[in-house]
Formats: sequence, structure tokens, C-alpha cells
Amino acid sequence: MRPKLKILICAPEAVPFAKTGGLADVAGVLPKELKKLGHDVRVVMPGYSVIDRDKYGLTPINEPLGVPMGIIGEAWCGVYEGKIPGTGIPVYFIEHEQYFGRKNLYNDDSGQGYMDNDNRFVFFSRACLQLCKKLGFYPDVINANDWQTSAIPIFLNTIYRHDPLGNAASVLTIHNMQHQGSFYEGLMDVMGIGWKHYNFLELEYNDQVNLLKGGILNSTLLTTVSDGYAREIQSPEHGWGLDGVVRERAGDLYGILNGCDYDEWNPETDKYIVKNYSESDFSGKAECKRDLQKAFGLPVRDDMPLFGIVTRLVRQKGVDILAEALYKLIGLDAQFVLLGAGEVWAHFYFGGAPRFFPEKIAVNIGFSDELAHKIEAGSDFFLMPSRFEPCGLNQMYSLRYGTLPIVRSTGGLNDTVENFNEQTLEGTGFKFYDLTADAIFNTVGWATYTYYHNKKAIHSLRQNAMSKRFTWEETAGRYEMVYYQAVRRRRNVYI
Ligand code: ADP
Ligand code: GLC
Repeated sequence: MRPKLKILICAPEAVPFAKTGGLADVAGVLPKELKKLGHDVRVVMPGYSVIDRDKYGLTPINEPLGVPMGIIGEAWCGVYEGKIPGTGIPVYFIEHEQYFGRKNLYNDDSGQGYMDNDNRFVFFSRACLQLCKKLGFYPDVINANDWQTSAIPIFLNTIYRHDPLGNAASVLTIHNMQHQGSFYEGLMDVMGIGWKHYNFLELEYNDQVNLLKGGILNSTLLTTVSDGYAREIQSPEHGWGLDGVVRERAGDLYGILNGCDYDEWNPETDKYIVKNYSESDFSGKAECKRDLQKAFGLPVRDDMPLFGIVTRLVRQKGVDILAEALYKLIGLDAQFVLLGAGEVWAHFYFGGAPRFFPEKIAVNIGFSDELAHKIEAGSDFFLMPSRFEPCGLNQMYSLRYGTLPIVRSTGGLNDTVENFNEQTLEGTGFKFYDLTADAIFNTVGWATYTYYHNKKAIHSLRQNAMSKRFTWEETAGRYEMVYYQAVRRRRNVYI
């Protein structure tokens, strides 16, 4: 039998403590499944001031932690410890008032990244490693996530290479190639690894320090969150300039589709919705639709198709093209409900639309778990016109709720949704290929037409969708394989 591993997951956000997107879901749920496989798994994240310390019963670890920050000197911080609720899995929170005592995680209210994000996350990355030493916890493998923790594999190969901690293999999971942590070159002085690493074959890209590039080149193995995205990031269209670097490591890159948390997203048990329902008894969904229409102030219409959208309002999600399509969509005999927050223009644009078409569209600019659940349950269709989508979670939730996803065929959306086949009635949703207003309109139109004129098809699509499963158990099994391989690679031994 293979030995059990000591695994450290380092993430800039994790549910239920702090979340801006799907990365938080992954960082909060994957550890639970890894623990079920018998591993000693722990999580580290920043101790943002928005985290409710009382609610989660966080307790301080007594001594302060010293984190060397190059020319800035040693930064001292506190560490709080808690558990992922309902599990014994330790979560450590790195406390630093100057860096993490802010209202938002990464951006100011106007959506601009904080000016000192470079120092904040280099600090956090180094703190994760210093914490291991302080705790005497020497992981077999450290799983970093995105640019915010990409300095970890870099540090492991430099500062800690000859430290016992340097035995740890590193796995970098890429959730999004667009955000790379690209900063002023002076960051080299803060990282303290020596300027010799500032060159085109290592950390430099476009005259800046590119943390993601350094992470990709230094981690033992790489994963990303779907097979489709693993292929796409090797192309100029989706590589955001780093496709060549990814291609260099293509042999070490694994696409592992995220799972869906069915404890949280299940129409049979969902606590937020007015009536539970299942594949065999669908009646509750009609009540959920009425409840959603009421909650959003739309006319209560059983007979009209309702399209839901829950998204960050950013270009990645194709909301600029959705905005272009909106005036045509409004002309359909259909209703739209949108929940989202993000770029300011989109708040004005979408936020203003209901004033003109109160019967057709309702919008909530904000973030609400409860409304997200109500939309998943109460809508007939769920729209995701993403420009790119590494994995995407909402289409998986939608499938489980029999809310047929309408997706652009990219990344994880393409991997998880099967297009409707009118002849065979196979499929789980509707797909389109070009990111244009016409393509969105035509596909929503196709779904609307099907809704009105082919009830049998809608029924079988719903059955197909609801029977799909993307379990975390399976996903965790794949991570485990990658971890074992990374450990073997790092130590050059077979276990
Ligand atoms: P991304 O991480 O790129 O935003 P994902 O589909 O992986 O995309 O994950 C998004 C997660 O965030 C989902 O769980 C989704 O329900 C949630 N979410 C996004 N926007 C909102 C919002 N405005 N209110 C509530 N939940 C939201
Ligand atoms: C990123 C991606 C999203 C993915 C999530 C979790 O936020 O944009 O597609 O589902 O990470 O991996």
C-alpha cells in the first residue's frame, strides 16, 4: 500500500471563509475528499479581516511568525487556526493587518488591483513555508493555486532547496491564465532569491516579474481544471502570452476537472429553495420558478421560459457580448434574471435594464448564495456565454437542478455540457461556438423555441442533465495520483 501523504493546500481564498469565485470552492472542498482518502491534509489562506473569527471559532497560535521580505526586512505576523466546518481539517490563517485588513480580497471598490498585491502575495507565499517550519509540519507535497501562491514553487527551488522543507514536491493548479501576477521588477529585491533569476528563461516576462511564469517553470507538476483548458492554454488564444512556457511543460500538465459539491448543490436537499424536487418528482421546480419570479419582482408566468445568469460581471464571462445581445433577447417571449457583480460599466448597464423592460428582465447587482441557489432551482435555462472558462461550476450546478445550460463551447463548459441533438433527444444543454451577439441570440432563441414547441425534448434533456455527476471523489482521486507522481519526481524515488 502506498504511504499516506502530508499535503498542504495554499490558496488565496477558500469556502466557507472567503470567496470571490470557484477557486474558493475547490480549496474548501478538495481537502475533505483527500482526507477521506486517508491523507494528512491542511490548508493555509490569508487571514482577511472580512473573515468572521467568532463564527468559525478561530484561535490564535501563540507565537508570532517571522517572514523574511528581502529589502523590506522581516515581516511579523500572527497565525490563527480553525477547521473546515464539520471536519478535523486544520486551516491556518496568516494575519497581517497592513496586508489583509481590507474590505476586499484583491481589488479596491473600483475594481483596480491593490497597488501592493505583489508584496501581499509574495508575503503570503513565504509565510506558508515559514509556517511549516514553525509547526514542524514538513509536507510531502504543497499544492499552490494561481499566481497568488506561485512564489511557493519558486521559493522551494531556491531559498528552501537545501532546507528539509525543500523535499516537498510542488503542484501548481492553474485556475485562470489571465491573471499572472505581473509586477515591477523591483519585486525581485523583496523575494530575496537573487537577481540571477530575473531573466527570460525564469521569472521575467515583458520587463516585469511574472509570478505565474515562475510558478509554471518551478513547480514539480502542474494541473489545470479541465482537459479542454489544459489544451487551450498551450495556444496563443488562451495562453495570455505564456502559452510557450506552458508548452515547455506540456508533459507535466494534467487537466483535472473540478467536482461539484452535491452536499451544497442538490435540489433534493437545498435549504434555500421553497420546494425540493428530484428527477422522479419534478413538481417542486415549478414552485421554485414562481418563488424566483416573486423574489425578483417579475410577473409570475408558468408558461414562459426563464433564463438565469449568476456570474462575475467581467469580460472573461462574455458579459460585454451579452450586453450587446440584450436588446434582441428582450424581444423574445422569455424572462431573464441576472445576479452578479464586477466591472462598474456592467453594474450600470445591466442594473439599468429592468427600468426599461420590467416584465422581461430583473437584475440584482451583488453577491448572494441564497439568490444563486434560487436562480439555479427556479430557472428553466442557465446562460454562460464565457469568452474562456477554465472549468466553470455553475453549469454543473445547473445540470443537477435540471436547469439546462446554454454555454459557449470553451474549456470546461465544452467538457461538461453535451449539445442537444434534435433527432435523438440526447444531450444536456445548448452550445454555441462563436462569441457574438448573434450566436447568443440564436441559441437562446433555439432554447426558447424548444421550450414552447418540443416539451418532450425539454423533458428528456432535463432527465439527462439531472443524472450527470461530477463527483469530488473522482476528482480527488486524480489529484492523489498527481501528488504521488510529484513526490516521486521530487525525491527521485518510487513510492
Ligand atoms: P469563476 O470562479 O471564474 O467566477 P466558477 O463558475 O468556477 O467561475 O465559480 C463561480 C462561483 O461563484 C460559483 O459558485 C457561483 O455560484 C458563484 N458566484 C459568482 N457570482 C456570484 C454572485 N453574484 N452571487 C453568488 N454567487 C456567485
Ligand atoms: C477560475 C475559473 C473557473 C473555474 C474556477 C475554479 O475562477 O475562472 O472557470 O471553475 O477557477 O477552478
